[in-house]
Amino acid sequence: MTFSEFKDQVARELDLRLDSYKLNRVERRVYSLMRRHQVEDLSECLQRIRGDKDFKEAFVKHFTINTSEFFRNPTSFKFLETRVLPLLFQENEKVNIWSAACSNGSEPYSVAMLINEMGISRDRYQIVATDIDRFILEAAHQAVYNDQALLRVEPALREKYFTPVADDRYQLDARIKRQVRFVYQDLLKEEFSSNWNLIICRNFFIYLTREGKDTLTRRFAESLAYRGILFLGNTEFIFEPGAFNLKKIEGSFYQKLS
Ligand SMILES: C[S@@+](CC[C@H](N)C(=O)[O-])C[C@H]1O[C@@H](n2cnc3c(N)ncnc32)[C@H](O)[C@@H]1O
Repeated sequence: MTFSEFKDQVARELDLRLDSYKLNRVERRVYSLMRRHQVEDLSECLQRIRGDKDFKEAFVKHFTINTSEFFRNPTSFKFLETRVLPLLFQENEKVNIWSAACSNGSEPYSVAMLINEMGISRDRYQIVATDIDRFILEAAHQAVYNDQALLRVEPALREKYFTPVADDRYQLDARIKRQVRFVYQDLLKEEFSSNWNLIICRNFFIYLTREGKDTLTRRFAESLAYRGILFLGNTEFIFEPGAFNLKKIEGSFYQKLS
């Protein structure tokens, strides 16, 4: 069985749009999982995905890379805090925020902390966070983090919003937890709702083909409200923002033009 045949069958089996992901990356991940589970070849791997629930779960988990941390790329979060959020709250009575491919929740919770620190009243915003990995969504909901995830949290915020629980693990304050609603969603398959003032999609484009990125950029741009902002990862750029009705405002922040 060629890798391409395997990929098509897995895509059908798991109902995933694997064609939008960079093929060599998908291939590397599959072979490393096979080595770990002593799976001989692609046919056996497919059989295990079909017949072994635990292996199927391990496959999906291994495929979705969940690396995340609070205030990942602090300079960008500073720009969000000092320029983007004040502008959005100045221009809109209610601000709709979507963290797409949110992983363990540290990204949307970082935003929730910033807004809480700004003293904005709770009825003036909503934060929705989505991901394709149900396990990581459950972890996000629990909101218990290790030291590594908190490395970039300023000491005052750490003191205020986290309580040590055990073995270098910290529970996020319930006030912040309540500000984020987590929902399962496959970004490559499902419909998007519209009227978002801020869409944060960081460190997901890197896994996609050029075509996959363009399609997602167009769909995000369509889902933004007028003058809404798209916030990407620090190594992710849109080469021709104008083609998507966007303009670059700084680093990986783009604003909807009309
Ligand atoms: C590297 S993490 C990025 C987390 C966070 N945005 C950040 O920058 O720290 C990538 C996330 O994309 C999610 N993901 C992968 N494919 C997806 C898809 N088709 N739809 C939604 N989320 C997906 C993974 O489950 C993972 O949590």
